[in-house]
Amino acid sequence: MTKIKKVVVIGGTGLIGSKAVKLLQDAGHEAVVASSRNGINAYTGEGLQAALAGVDAVIDVSNMMSFDKDVITDFFGTSSRNLTSAEQAAGVYNHVTLSIVNADQLAANPYMAGKLTQEEAVASSGQAYTIVRATQFHEFIETLTGAYAADGAVKVPDIDFQPIAATDVAAALVQAALGEPKNETIDLAGPERAPFGSFIRAYLDAKGDVRPVTADAAVDYFGAPVAKGSLVPGGEYIKGQITIAQWLKA
Ligand SMILES: NC(=O)c1ccc[n+]([C@@H]2O[C@H](COP(=O)([O-])OP(=O)(O)OC[C@H]3O[C@@H](n4cnc5c(N)ncnc54)[C@H](OP(=O)(O)O)[C@@H]3O)[C@@H](O)[C@H]2O)c1
Repeated sequence: MTKIKKVVVIGGTGLIGSKAVKLLQDAGHEAVVASSRNGINAYTGEGLQAALAGVDAVIDVSNMMSFDKDVITDFFGTSSRNLTSAEQAAGVYNHVTLSIVNADQLAANPYMAGKLTQEEAVASSGQAYTIVRATQFHEFIETLTGAYAADGAVKVPDIDFQPIAATDVAAALVQAALGEPKNETIDLAGPERAPFGSFIRAYLDAKGDVRPVTADAAVDYFGAPVAKGSLVPGGEYIKGQITIAQWLKA
């Protein structure tokens, strides 16, 4: 019989975190829903020591949306240092962080700079870890569409895209948390790679939105210059299962 594990999900009330909590519970494991509103704050350290007692693994899917590089870098760096040092003190076996594919190549985007700082804080902490870098979520396509929309059209970067459903991300994180720490970074992407604009088109079509979608090589990714492969894994990766068509239908 598989050993029942206790896993703390930092950001357990969020999009990915709530799905990870449910997957853990459905598999018979103990999941602790950690969030600042629940009195467990990765950034200030509040509640961490008590929450980590007797814990096997931590999944960190906390988030802060800011495009102020100093603010976002401080949030992810400080939170990761607090978490990994509290985990070492508590004897936690595996720290799993969710980052973003190619975050290191996109650091001109302030949010990506924050994620890179997060990765560096974890990798240099001395705590056993697994960093999972995912591509953009299907659930994020709505935000992307809004960001690239202007004057009755949507103009996007002329690059490849390979989004993944939040459900597939949560499943990969749970698998990583229940396994051995890899002490390295692994990539995770959706089942289909295609031009960025084709996913925006599919999303708009599903909503009956007829705005034209065009691709332009001069369009960047929130401040980061991008080329064809900038948002997709360059090597081996774990592949999610849920296609954009299946996700839109559901
Ligand atoms: N969007 C994408 O396409 C994409 C792609 C790859 C990776 N990611 C990464 O995925 C991760 C999860 O994103 P998400 O969309 O699931 O986030 P989300 O829905 O915004 O949820 C964020 C969670 O973090 C918690 N949180 C915020 N500050 C906290 C703190 N100081 N201490 C403890 N918990 C805190 C929030 O709860 P409280 O407010 O109660 O604290 C909430 O539960 C992010 O790190 C993001 O970088 C995103």
